[in-house]
Amino acid sequence: MKGVIFTEFLSMVETAHGLDMVDTIIEKSDLPSGGSYTAVGTYPHTEIVSLVINLSQEIDTPVPDLLKAYGIHLFHFLSSSYPDFVNNTKEPLDFLEQVETYIHVEVRKLYPDAELPSFECSRPNSPNELHMTYHSVRHMEDVCEGLIRGSLQHFNRTADIKRQSVDDDSELFIITLTN
Ligand code: HEM
Repeated sequence: MKGVIFTEFLSMVETAHGLDMVDTIIEKSDLPSGGSYTAVGTYPHTEIVSLVINLSQEIDTPVPDLLKAYGIHLFHFLSSSYPDFVNNTKEPLDFLEQVETYIHVEVRKLYPDAELPSFECSRPNSPNELHMTYHSVRHMEDVCEGLIRGSLQHFNRTADIKRQSVDDDSELFIITLTN
């Protein structure tokens, strides 16, 4: 997993809970990398899981809540780092459809070793209801939900988000715009 995923997570923890908390969770997580991440490096995705589990214990907050909050934070970081990707569309559901067909395609060109999920999108019932099936062996469904919520915030829209497990490595998100 790219180092930027780790550096942004630790920056969110530092802002919310201070540098001592960052040091505590790095020490407790016993990480193969030692916890010194560079944005361009690549590290095992299991390290983010260890960091989140330890943060969850330290601040007594459920892991899924932390992962969703992190996804929202990560979206705002990614959209300010790559403004061209988000300025290409005005509608959040059009934007979300483009993650698979455009954004992650461009990300792959920039970072050939990126570990990206894949998505299948359709709007079977209404133009305001996107069915987005996430596939990834890394099981970052909660981060994915946060990224979807961050996208909606970016476009100043609200939506109802329902989730259904499809199989071991797939989850369906049904995103229905409410304004
Ligand atoms: C400006 C927009 C975006 C950019 C630049 C971007 C870029 C990236 C990058 C660099 C990674 C890390 C790859 C790695 O660590 O090897 C990643 C992972 C990921 N992205 Fe995106 N992304 C964007 C938007 C989104 C959105 C809106 C979603 C959700 C619908 C999404 C879903 C994910 C997920 C879930 C992962 C974690 C890896 C996995 O689950 O397998 N991304 N993305």
